[in-house]
Formats: sequence, structure tokens, C-alpha cells
Amino acid sequence: MACRTVFMAMACLFLEGAEAWSLLRISLPSWTEHGRQACTADGRHQGWGNQRSGMMPLGSWARRGGRTIRMSGDAEIEREVWMIEKPGNLKHLQKKKDMLPPPGPDEVRVRVCAIGLNFADVFTVLGMYDAASSKENLVPGLEFSGVVEAIGDRLQNRKSAIVSRSPDGKRNVLVSSPEPSQTKEGDGQKIRVGDRVMGFSRFGSFSTHLNVGSSYIRPIPDDWTFQQGASFVVQGLTAWYGLVELGQAQAGKRVLIHSAAGGVGLFCLQICRLFDMTPVAIVGSEEKSALLAETYGLEKSQIVIRKQSPRRFKEDVIGACQLLDGKGYDVIMDSVAGKYFSPGYESLSPQGRHVLFGAASYTPRGDLGKVWWSLEFWRSIVPKFLSRPKLDVQKMIGQNKAVLGFNLIWLTDGETDPKVLGLLMDQMLQRRWNPPMVGAEFRFDEMPEALRFFKSGRSVGKVVVNVSEE
Ligand SMILES: NC(=O)c1ccc[n+]([C@@H]2O[C@H](COP(=O)([O-])OP(=O)(O)OC[C@H]3O[C@@H](n4cnc5c(N)ncnc54)[C@H](OP(=O)(O)O)[C@@H]3O)[C@@H](O)[C@H]2O)c1
Repeated sequence: MACRTVFMAMACLFLEGAEAWSLLRISLPSWTEHGRQACTADGRHQGWGNQRSGMMPLGSWARRGGRTIRMSGDAEIEREVWMIEKPGNLKHLQKKKDMLPPPGPDEVRVRVCAIGLNFADVFTVLGMYDAASSKENLVPGLEFSGVVEAIGDRLQNRKSAIVSRSPDGKRNVLVSSPEPSQTKEGDGQKIRVGDRVMGFSRFGSFSTHLNVGSSYIRPIPDDWTFQQGASFVVQGLTAWYGLVELGQAQAGKRVLIHSAAGGVGLFCLQICRLFDMTPVAIVGSEEKSALLAETYGLEKSQIVIRKQSPRRFKEDVIGACQLLDGKGYDVIMDSVAGKYFSPGYESLSPQGRHVLFGAASYTPRGDLGKVWWSLEFWRSIVPKFLSRPKLDVQKMIGQNKAVLGFNLIWLTDGETDPKVLGLLMDQMLQRRWNPPMVGAEFRFDEMPEALRFFKSGRSVGKVVVNVSEE
């Protein structure tokens, strides 16, 4: 363990931001208490099958929509999962069968119809994601859509069981309420077997079935497909939390959005429209620029095509701002970082907020086989580390600028109020959203190909893996 920690710390010296911190945190024991519990709720394979063994009990059944469905989750079932046995290389991602226990009292079991891919999945497979505290035998995957198959005991009695704060305000405690309408925000609505849902899972969605806490699922809007449902939660929440909560969205603000044609980027563009803010979009290619002009009606002057040269990139970013009104950006949504950080930061207006939530420029494009102990990997990382952006915090005071970083997954770590994510979802769903753009679809069997394509950076919109029909 000590050896691994030292190695991880060395690795941190060569990586930046979230990923670098991630490497070190993987080996810190202080994290593991909450992390393991959360992971084990579904993502971790070890212990599932052997914790609850024996005969499969019969559940209770009901007729719904002409079909007979199991009402209670009192039996374990066999499922298929994609599991990373040893992180570091896509080759270690294997399809397996395992047993899924019945959902816990506050959980539901979902038959997964579609899985949405995220950058964090790539980092998980590569073994570079700190939130994946148990790195071996992990079922990756953060979001999904599907059909509720079974409901935990406490959720079946929702009328008399709701969550509230303890008197000292530190914990959530279960209290009774005769009125279902008093169910707290963020706690999830009344869920029924057969409901179409979309949700967030702290790992475990690369699977045909999973158990998930009710706070983390919401009904899919009626006119959305399962693929669109699987494309909403992570990217939508990332855009919402970054731009609305941290960026303090407000009419008239000027917003610079990195990778604007990606999933999070497209949600940021929608939020700009909802709040009457003016976006400037950064994209990696001409094709993406054309797509944004066509589908989002952006002017050419509102789109910056990212150049390799930071000097030229800076000119373009500042140029686009000057064409607006020259006053600088109020918010920057930055998931690329590295050498592309400073041009944006320098064109931030006083009181502006630079929101950092990713570091895509540190991800080597290409095959996932490029592992972090290979020479090739270090060759691509070291120059980036040496030229990484540095801020003089003293100057930040005089400039009235703020840099804020976040990772959504820490809103589910048990240290934050577990209902925070649910509350954010409820806030978001009060708005009317365009159905998310699904850019590419793969079959469940094609998970490795889907991840490879996702990581190529060629995708526009969401990459989705289809699991089962409704
Ligand atoms: N902090 C959080 O909680 C959180 C949550 C979700 C996502 N994220 C981050 O947000 C970013 C966007 O996520 P997304 O879900 O919107 O992904 P996405 O739809 O696949 O978009 C990713 C885009 O990143 C750009 N990119 C830049 N450098 C890249 C590289 N080296 N390799 C591959 N792509 C590269 C590409 O667009 P261009 O070339 O056009 O720029 C690509 O299309 C990612 O960095 C992800 O880690 C953070």
C-alpha cells in the first residue's frame, strides 16, 4: 500500500487538476469509508453473489399494462455486466454474469435499456478515477435509463416514510408523514414498478440490471426515448451545477463554453437560452462549428475553433468577446484546461467566474490501451504538466476573478447531503429541455468499441449503449 501511495504521488506530479488529485486520492484510506459503501451499493462486484445466497424466494406479482410484473424486490436475479477486472487497459473490460441481490429498502431495481457514456468511464477503465475507490472487479458506468422492475420495502410504504434532517442538522433521519404530498424535494417521486426512469449511479450502470437509490432516478419525459433519457442526467447536471449554481446564471451574462458541441456543452447552450445569456462556443473542428450554427443558430462570430497554438487561440477567444461588447466573459465553462485555460481566464471580466470541471486536454486521444505506466503515456503527459497553467492567487484579489472547480460525483459521496443531487435534478426538471442529442449508438456487446469511439473525441452529442428493448 505504502509503495502504491508513493507511486501515485509521483504520478500526481505529472498530472493536472482533477485527474492528478484523483490518482493520489485513490490510495488514501480516509476516503474509503463512504466511498466503499456507495460503491458497493451496486458498482462493486466482490461480495454480491456470496453475501446473500440460497434459494431464490418468490416475489409478489401484479398485472400492469397487460403484463405480469414482480412488485417487490425480494429475490436476487442473474444479470450481465461489463466489469473491469484490473484497471489500466480496455482489454481488461470483460463481460460477465453475476447475481444482483434484491434492492435495499430505499432502492429500486431497474432493468437497464440504455447506458450513457461519460469521460469518467474512460478514466475508470484506465484506473485514473479516484472515486472508483475499489479499483478491481468494478462495474463502471454512471448513468442509465430503463424500467423499474422491483421496489425496496420502504419505498412501497412511501406514504408513511419520508426523510428529514436530524435536530442537529447533521444527518438525515426517517420520519413518518401521513401525507405523501409532504415528501421532501430531492427524495424522488413516488415510484411504481413499470415506470420509465433515467438516473445516476455511482458506478454499476454497465449492466443489464442495477439497484439504485430512489434519490438518483427520475421519470423520463414522455416524449423522450430511452436513449435520450440515458443522455440527460450526468451531462445535464454538470452543466446545471456549473453554470447555474456556481456560475450564477443571469440574463445578459456572457458565457464562454469549451467543447460546446459535446454533451455538457450542448446543455450549457440550452441553459444560456433559458436564462437569456450570450454564449461563445469553442469547438475542435469545422464540422462541429457548422453543426452549432445550424442547430443552435449561433453566429460565426460566436464560435471559436480551437487552435493548437495558444497565442492564436487567445486571439480568437478575445476577438469573439470584443465582437460581443469587449467587456470580457462573465462565466467560463472549462472542461479542457491545460494550455487552453489561460486565454479564457485572461479574458474574464472583473467578478467573472472560471468554472473548471474537466481536463480533456490531458487525455491522450486514441486507443484506450495507452496505459499510465507506459512510456508513451508519460511522454504525452510530462510536457503538459510542465506547461500547466499557474495562477498568482495574490493577483486574483486585485482582479476580482474567481476560479471554481467541481466534480459531480463528490455530491454523492455520503459527506455531502445525499439529497443534493436529487434536488438539482428536480430544479432542472422544472424547466423544459430539448431532448438530448444522441450522436452514436452501440449494442451492449460492443461496449469496448463504444468506449474507443467515445474517447476518439469525434463524437457529437451523446454516445449511448443499448441494452434491452422496453
Ligand atoms: N466534473 C464533473 O462532474 C464532470 C461531469 C461530466 C463531464 N465532465 C467533463 O466534461 C467534459 C465533457 O464531457 P462530455 O460528457 O460533454 O463529453 P463529450 O460529449 O464526449 O465531449 C467531449 C469533448 O471533449 C473535447 N476534447 C478535448 N480534448 C479532448 C481529448 N484529448 N480527447 C477527447 N475529447 C477531447 C472534444 O470536443 P472538442 O474537440 O470539440 O473540444 C469532445 O467532443 C469532459 O472533460 C468530462 O470529463 C465533468
